[in-house]
Amino acid sequence: MTASYFLSNVLALAFAFVCCCSSMASTMDSNMLGLGGGNETDRLALLAIKAQIHQDPNRPVMSSWNESTHFCMWHGVTCSRRHLQRVIKLNLTSLKLSGSIYPHVGNLSFLRELSLYNNSLTNKIPPEIGHLLRLRILRLENNSLSGPIPANISNCFNLIILDVSHNMLGGNIPPELGSLSKLEYLSFLFNNLTGEIPPSLGNLSSLGSLDAYSNNLVGSIPSSLGQLKKLTHFCKTLLN
Ligand SMILES: *[C@@H]1O[C@H](CO)[C@@H](O)[C@H](O)[C@H]1NC(C)=O
Ligand SMILES: *[C@@H]1O[C@H](CO)[C@@H](O)[C@H](O)[C@H]1NC(C)=O
Ligand SMILES: *[C@@H]1O[C@H](CO)[C@@H](O)[C@H](O)[C@H]1NC(C)=O
Ligand SMILES: *[C@@H]1O[C@H](CO)[C@@H](O)[C@H](O)[C@H]1NC(C)=O
Ligand SMILES: *[C@@H]1O[C@H](CO)[C@@H](O)[C@H](O)[C@H]1NC(C)=O
Ligand SMILES: *[C@@H]1O[C@H](CO)[C@@H](O)[C@H](O)[C@H]1NC(C)=O
Ligand SMILES: *[C@@H]1O[C@H](CO)[C@@H](O)[C@H](O)[C@H]1NC(C)=O
Ligand SMILES: *[C@@H]1O[C@H](CO)[C@@H](O)[C@H](O)[C@H]1NC(C)=O
Ligand SMILES: *[C@@H]1O[C@H](CO)[C@@H](O)[C@H](O)[C@H]1NC(C)=O
Repeated sequence: MTASYFLSNVLALAFAFVCCCSSMASTMDSNMLGLGGGNETDRLALLAIKAQIHQDPNRPVMSSWNESTHFCMWHGVTCSRRHLQRVIKLNLTSLKLSGSIYPHVGNLSFLRELSLYNNSLTNKIPPEIGHLLRLRILRLENNSLSGPIPANISNCFNLIILDVSHNMLGGNIPPELGSLSKLEYLSFLFNNLTGEIPPSLGNLSSLGSLDAYSNNLVGSIPSSLGQLKKLTHFCKTLLN
């Protein structure tokens, strides 16, 4: 099974879930979407995120993030119906966005999916992402993010997909990531990570796909990875 095949399965599941949520959102009472409603924390977090992001002047998608509409209607934002007007998904992919991911993203405490892949985002991945205990999907691939992979991501114990490939991340792979027992897909490929692959990754009992090649990793493949019974994809050229 290839990584893309695996990922498409996982994404098909995620997509089914998203479809379910958006159909619920469309039945939302229009009063609930009125101005002044919703969670102020989420609104302030989104405005702070917007302020740190620069967009393509030819396609200013984030101009929809303005006070004339409720934030649940903003481009890329999906809210939950059950927890009224809490943001559950933020999908800003392939929009030529630059700037940085603001720490306020950690205040979107109902977030299940954060997809910012295929943009030109720079600076660090904020460790505040570790506050997102409901997060299942974190896709930051194909940006220009630098600095370390924050160990605090290991707090997001519901994570199923973690993709930080094609960035400029450095430092060691945090051993703490080994605690993400629901993780099925993990990709670090094409970064500038150093050190050894931590043996603790052998604790990722749900892992089906692991990509770590094209980094500056050293050492051998830890024998603990042999424990990963579900691992069906794993790069032969794990170490470069
Ligand atoms: C908004 O969310 C925050 C953090 O979860 C919570 O403390 C606050 O009570 C919520 N406010 C409203 C109006 O729901
Ligand atoms: C505010 O957003 C709405 C769509 O949500 C858009 O039609 C409108 O042009 C935006 N206003 C400004 C000033 O960008
Ligand atoms: C995120 O948005 C992009 C562009 O609109 C879309 O192609 C992609 O399928 C979305 N991802 C998910 C997981 O919904
Ligand atoms: C990535 O974004 C660029 C625009 O910046 C777009 O042309 C390209 O198709 C996107 N790639 C993928 C795989 O979505
Ligand atoms: C949001 O997060 C920032 C940075 O993590 C924090 O300083 C701020 O107090 C938070 N704001 C609210 C309204 O919770
Ligand atoms: C990565 O981003 C670059 C620049 O936006 C784009 O040209 C390329 O298609 C993207 N690749 C993927 C795999 O998304
Ligand atoms: C990172 O997580 C630790 C506990 O796991 C916490 O004490 C610390 O405040 C977190 N850092 C940030 C920036 O959220
Ligand atoms: C990668 O890391 C090495 C050693 O830490 C450093 O010299 C180099 O500049 C880094 N390259 C990039 C593209 O960040
Ligand atoms: C994780 O793996 C390491 C090294 O393989 C091991 O020492 C540790 O006990 C494991 N931790 C858990 C919580 O299973």
